[in-house]
Amino acid sequence: MTVKLDLTNSGIEKKIESIKEKSFGALDKLLSKTGEGNDFLGWIDLPENYNKEEYDRIKKSAEKIKKDSEVLVVIGIGGSYLGTKAVENAIKPYFGKLDGVELIYAGHHLSSTYMVELLDYLKDKDYSLNVISKSGTTTEPAVAFRFLKEAIEKKYGKEESVKRIYVTTDKEKGALKGLANEVGYESFVVPDDVGGRFSVLTAVGLLPLAAAGVNIDELMEGARLGRKKYTTKNFEDNIALQYATAREVLYDENKAIEILVSYEEKMRYLAEWWKQLFGESEGKDGKGIFPASTIFTTDLHSMGQMIQDGVRNIFETVISIENPEKNLNINEEEANLDGLNYIAGKSVDYVNKKAMEGTVVAHVKGGVPNIKIEIDKLDEKNLGELLYFFEITVAVSGYLLEVNPFNQPGVEEYKTQMFKLLGKPGY
Ligand code: PA5
Repeated sequence: MTVKLDLTNSGIEKKIESIKEKSFGALDKLLSKTGEGNDFLGWIDLPENYNKEEYDRIKKSAEKIKKDSEVLVVIGIGGSYLGTKAVENAIKPYFGKLDGVELIYAGHHLSSTYMVELLDYLKDKDYSLNVISKSGTTTEPAVAFRFLKEAIEKKYGKEESVKRIYVTTDKEKGALKGLANEVGYESFVVPDDVGGRFSVLTAVGLLPLAAAGVNIDELMEGARLGRKKYTTKNFEDNIALQYATAREVLYDENKAIEILVSYEEKMRYLAEWWKQLFGESEGKDGKGIFPASTIFTTDLHSMGQMIQDGVRNIFETVISIENPEKNLNINEEEANLDGLNYIAGKSVDYVNKKAMEGTVVAHVKGGVPNIKIEIDKLDEKNLGELLYFFEITVAVSGYLLEVNPFNQPGVEEYKTQMFKLLGKPGY
């Protein structure tokens, strides 16, 4: 079993019938490449036709990084880091790391304190840099790379530092590509037809993930499986199509906020990746479901009140992991001073599952429809499939909303205003 969808508590199962055809049309538009943004559909076939030469080079570079570095600094923002962080966090142990390097992120914000502390942290570490920017011109990673490049050159000297800097960018355009060509950094390509938020299964995600010890073959295998299942032109067999349709029905019923919920802390960054994927793809032309996320039971003690009793414009999508990686039983205690003997003999995951089931009942009762996505366990293969599942869903959802799911014109406005204030030439 891999990814499963359960709409029993969505309250809209019957209504789905009425827009089934429309969803089918949206999937058709996507797969026949006749919809808006059809020059950005390279991600659909990535799991099948990944450039073999580059894939092998990614693995070779990852092995080199593992040998000569303790840390790989991943410099990028938005789609150039979120997928990596999502998969890394879901797979690595809570305390410690996998059989690879520690990944540290930079260039994903402009905190000066972070940069000073990072430069200090790296002083006595052996490290490499992977600077990732499709456009090669994004301010945040460019600023971070300037500091980190100076630091690495100071530590190892010009010649050795060139062998420790990996560039992932456009195949020919952009400042970063120019620099890579001039200096001779090992470089990897973000394909023209793959947008940032759809790029986790390119070198953008694969190189740092492989260096961290994530099994990228399994990740790709999961995505391949996902491609087979979620491009199927059969509504009953295609749960990505069903999920997109359910979201459309709920949006029509004024459920304008979707909260992606997980009961596993390791999924926190998968939700961040999902928020970017859905937020940037759908939020345009005055339309779109606002993507939010919570980790339960943690956030039941903060956001729970609002979800249960606030404005009734929310629905929840819970990602449930059937089998936890590790589990432990609660022991019986003779004194029972904490009053917990009623759950003695039960596992912590059993309690977590009951919290999930109880919360679904409570929230549905409170007017919050519930969609459940289930995976049997958290591993690379299931994650690969889940990433692909969400990518197909968001593309179909975008076409159902009648927006172009593959552009992000709204992201430019803050840049223009910031550049004006900074006095960038031409603004
Ligand atoms: O999804 C997107 O296209 C964006 O979020 C980009 O990933 C982000 O702005 C970073 O862009 P770049 O990789 O060009 O530096």
